[in-house]
Amino acid sequence: MNAEIAGIQPELYDPKLVLESPAFHILAEGEHPNDKTVNIACFTNPNHDLHLVEKPMPKPGRGQVLLHIRASGICGSDCHFWLHGRIGDTMVVRDENGLGHESAGEVIEVGEGVTEWVKGDRVAIEAGFPFCRTGRYNACPDVIFFSTPPYHGLLSRYHVHPAAWLHRLPPNISFEEGALIEPLSVALAGIERAKLALGDPVLICGAGPIGIVTLLAARAAGAEPVVITDLDASRLAFAKNLVPGVRTVQVHPSDNPKETAAKIKEAMGLSPSLALECTGAESSIHTAIYSVKFGGLVFVIGVGKEIQTIPFMHLSAHEIDLKYQYRYSNQYPKAIRLVSGGLINVKPLVTHRFALEDAVEAFKVASDYRKGSIKVQILDDD
Ligand SMILES: NC(=O)c1ccc[n+]([C@@H]2O[C@H](COP(=O)([O-])OP(=O)(O)OC[C@H]3O[C@@H](n4cnc5c(N)ncnc54)[C@H](O)[C@@H]3O)[C@@H](O)[C@H]2O)c1
Repeated sequence: MNAEIAGIQPELYDPKLVLESPAFHILAEGEHPNDKTVNIACFTNPNHDLHLVEKPMPKPGRGQVLLHIRASGICGSDCHFWLHGRIGDTMVVRDENGLGHESAGEVIEVGEGVTEWVKGDRVAIEAGFPFCRTGRYNACPDVIFFSTPPYHGLLSRYHVHPAAWLHRLPPNISFEEGALIEPLSVALAGIERAKLALGDPVLICGAGPIGIVTLLAARAAGAEPVVITDLDASRLAFAKNLVPGVRTVQVHPSDNPKETAAKIKEAMGLSPSLALECTGAESSIHTAIYSVKFGGLVFVIGVGKEIQTIPFMHLSAHEIDLKYQYRYSNQYPKAIRLVSGGLINVKPLVTHRFALEDAVEAFKVASDYRKGSIKVQILDDD
């Protein structure tokens, strides 16, 4: 299938098409159009404003599908683009920029040449699509990833997407669960590449949404025993409530990583063979390295500071491997099967729900974990 037929020509998603459209304007604070034909979305900009905008109503072209986005999760990266305006040196908010990449929705119209989708189909939306034909397509530098600047995100009422980058939701998966397929795909990619096996003792560092889905996936893959760490007692309590068999170790920011590693070993009763690191914090990566056994693997899913130190001699003298994960490839179908088949229950992760019109409020809750959120979702019904 060529790019045109597949609906993946980059010019179709040029962010300027939205920004320069006469229909585009920023809504005043408190302005809540409740007419469902109005395409509203949540945007940020280089001044760190966060607001609703009205966008043009897109028309699906050849190979494209028009979606009503029904559920979207707020990811830490969405909050980061809003509050810090950038992630690293390449992903920089330089203009009005739409947020959101964890979404599920409903097909409302299909473009020319689309045969696999019909109005009413329910889908999980793969937010990134590459222009390379590599199997590990997350390696492709030439990618559109909705919500990574300059591309606008999925946190919008209506969105046009390439038909080839949608995944069918079976009837027993809700839109809320469908929107969690994205973070679950991150965890599954890590577990696949870490080659977690039945009975492996596993450490999970961090009990944020990524740590929690990683915990659920590691459990489904047969990890035992499992220890999870976090700075925050309520997040550890959430993990324990969800997976009663997990052992928890609370960390304090000033703790020495070697001492934390000793506490982890004590809680586990042995040294983990695998650490799935889900914070990206330097001290936590050090803790993971000091925790695993000789020949173990520290698999870093977390994203952190541009330059970090590593305890090189400990890694070297213990033949510990250090690996990383960048997004995912080919994980959505597997994630959907695991949720549909009942092996992974992502439902409890959604702790807060907001209407699309209240997206700004939703971000205030998502960006402050003291408000008790794990996953904040934005929903838009009929
Ligand atoms: N590799 C990828 O493709 C990918 C994709 C999505 C997210 N991520 C990254 O995964 C990480 C987790 O994402 P999230 O949404 O769960 O973030 P989050 O900020 O909600 O959760 C991180 C958790 O780590 C805890 N933490 C921080 N420092 C710690 C320490 N020293 N020891 C123990 N716990 C500590 C925090 O208290 C928090 O609960 C982030 O770095 C995020 O950028 C990576």
